[in-house]
Amino acid sequence: MRNRQILLKPDEIPRQWYNILADIKMNPPLGPDGKPISPDQLAPVFPMNLIEQEVSTKRWIDIPEEILDVLSIWHPTPLVRAYNLEKALDTPARIYFKNESVSPPGSHKPNTAVPQAYYNKVFGIKRITTETGAGQWGSALSFACCHYGLECKVFMVRISFDQKPYRKSMMAAWGGNCVPSPSMETKAGRDALELDPDTPGTLGIAISEAIEAAVADESGLTRYSLGSVLNHVMLHQTIIGLEAKRQLEKVNEYPDIVIGCAGGGSNFAGLAFPFAYDKIHGKKIEIYPVEPAGCPTLTKAPFVYDHGDTAKYTPLLPMYSLGHTFVPPPVHSGGLRYHGMAPTVSQLVDEGIFEARSVTQGNTYAAGVLAARTEGIIPAPETCHALALVVEEAKKAKEEGKEKVILFNWSGHGLLDLGAYEAYFAGNIKDIELSEQDLHGSEKVYADYPKPQHLKSRP
Ligand SMILES: Cc1ncc(COP(=O)(O)O)c(C=O)c1O
Repeated sequence: MRNRQILLKPDEIPRQWYNILADIKMNPPLGPDGKPISPDQLAPVFPMNLIEQEVSTKRWIDIPEEILDVLSIWHPTPLVRAYNLEKALDTPARIYFKNESVSPPGSHKPNTAVPQAYYNKVFGIKRITTETGAGQWGSALSFACCHYGLECKVFMVRISFDQKPYRKSMMAAWGGNCVPSPSMETKAGRDALELDPDTPGTLGIAISEAIEAAVADESGLTRYSLGSVLNHVMLHQTIIGLEAKRQLEKVNEYPDIVIGCAGGGSNFAGLAFPFAYDKIHGKKIEIYPVEPAGCPTLTKAPFVYDHGDTAKYTPLLPMYSLGHTFVPPPVHSGGLRYHGMAPTVSQLVDEGIFEARSVTQGNTYAAGVLAARTEGIIPAPETCHALALVVEEAKKAKEEGKEKVILFNWSGHGLLDLGAYEAYFAGNIKDIELSEQDLHGSEKVYADYPKPQHLKSRP
């Protein structure tokens, strides 16, 4: 029997998160007056202990015992050598994946849902609101709130709500309350429905609804939580890359290539940031965020200041953006239908530390099915994007006759995404690539905003 799974002992779980803000230069988020926002301005939306983390530039941040205790339900997660996939591709590349699908909700999302719920609880908050695209984030936050005795309200993008009804039941099992977005419960939702009663919804609209629902609670005991994009979310996700690094050390390996799918950037950043640290300090390594050709934020949109949500409730963030009014086509990977991108990931793409790639839907499901038939786990449609690039790079290694080490993030399983697989098997998955016209239509929404500077982090 081969040593397929590289495991850490329970007490080898990382005790600190890695904060990339210690190692990169960033444009600040801006308020409505065009000036950098102060932490106080975020206080109605987030608890102050998380705001402090959001702006911290300390390189290592301790993980409290109470958080480790819940994370240890499924962490450390396995690093797996994908022997069967390598064989099927007949590649000299050695392929490893971090298996984040083993968490109770089925993805990497609880890595940050648990700390976020914990810090809200410590701050005295009783109820958290959020949005969800694929449903993974809403499930993760419901799971986390359940552990700390908090109420959880989830606005789920309509198209995903209709595609995967069991996500709602999963959230309910952990005590979460999920409604489709746009809803009639908020002004942002009502405005979106007035504009288009048949809208499939977007993450941008759902974020606006969740922020509005949090801020509108006069008791002051509700806050909003975001499952990606923000600095503290990326921070919490670094447990993935920190574990992976230790696991690779155990088998004397270091990756030539690191790959993760990117919606708001969190699972990619979680795996990639500890390796980005090495690259900033001189290591040669290729690091690729992968996105759908149908929502090509990093590969086709510009690096600008834009809002993170449709109703413009968030500050202006320095990021790649398709425009906060952009409605991505209803691709099946709901978690990748986002107009923007984490500012930290955007910064590192802008300065060439990361090189963004895009893949078409048909290729993603072909790679997902190959991975399911070889490695056994049915990947989430989002993970299939990472897999499509893994297959491409493994084939390239074969053509070049190079023994490359490829590391990627298996961000979630697809057991509640089987409708998408059914569509693929029935030949109903279309390759969506957006025309220049589709892309340029929404540019005007940020045309008058300040422009971020092109900063360099490399010493
Ligand atoms: C399984 C899975 N992978 C990836 C993503 C993309 O999000 P992010 O880019 O923040 O990791 C999602 C989002 O819902 C997801 O559910």
